[in-house]
Amino acid sequence: MTNKLKYFIGNWKMFGSFASLRIIYRIERFCIRFKRYGKKNKIILCVPNTLISLFSSKLKSQIVSIGAQNCHQHQSYGPFTGSVSATMLKNAGAKYVILGHSDNRSEGDTNLIIKKKIKSALNQKLHIIFCIGENLKDKNLGKTFSVIRSQIKGSIDKKYNLNKIIFAYEPVWSIGTGKVPKTKELKKTFIFIKREIKKNYKIERFPIVLYGGSVNDSNIKIFSSIVEIDGFLIGGASQSSKKFIDIIKNYYK
Ligand code: PGA
Repeated sequence: MTNKLKYFIGNWKMFGSFASLRIIYRIERFCIRFKRYGKKNKIILCVPNTLISLFSSKLKSQIVSIGAQNCHQHQSYGPFTGSVSATMLKNAGAKYVILGHSDNRSEGDTNLIIKKKIKSALNQKLHIIFCIGENLKDKNLGKTFSVIRSQIKGSIDKKYNLNKIIFAYEPVWSIGTGKVPKTKELKKTFIFIKREIKKNYKIERFPIVLYGGSVNDSNIKIFSSIVEIDGFLIGGASQSSKKFIDIIKNYYK
């Protein structure tokens, strides 16, 4: 149920400018050095659309990849003011795209819309970071598993290439709040998610499932005891190279 490769994915949200290139460079330099210790990590930074092209053209190694944070459900071009399609993200240099983030769900993204977005992104050969997770009300009502099950069923078609989909369990009540689930609970949820996906889709191995929600350089160590966690989707703390690097270092301490 455990993957050897660990993912550290930054979700910059609506932060960053051209000058943030120095953050990307610092992280890249660290990753090149760190690789010598034989740690197997995949580092992905999902940045605002305005920065994808610059960042992906400046990175010198394959060690850090650039991703986007959302796309429109229509795959290519169309009369959708202010929107960006999977085709355009691919063209800008993105290799990954976050879909189903609770920020976007709260702005109207339904399971069906997310399903269409995933299809568009897969058609463009992008890797998907698909976010799932219950809100506080559902958690208190004991509905965590049923919410997760319906999010997966509602957005992942049996025909989709599961090898291209990374799941990110992000309890909504944990995003940006400093609150994280209890270790025991989190382990149970991860086992549930992995079994649920393996049971319902044709995949030989368990899927890659990340944890996201208030991950920082001080609490990261708690998560390293849960072997089912394949990595992390990091919001606020990924906007600083120091914090992001410390998260990786402290995970292995
Ligand atoms: P956070 O955000 O780490 O700031 O809680 C996580 C996310 O939104 O993906």
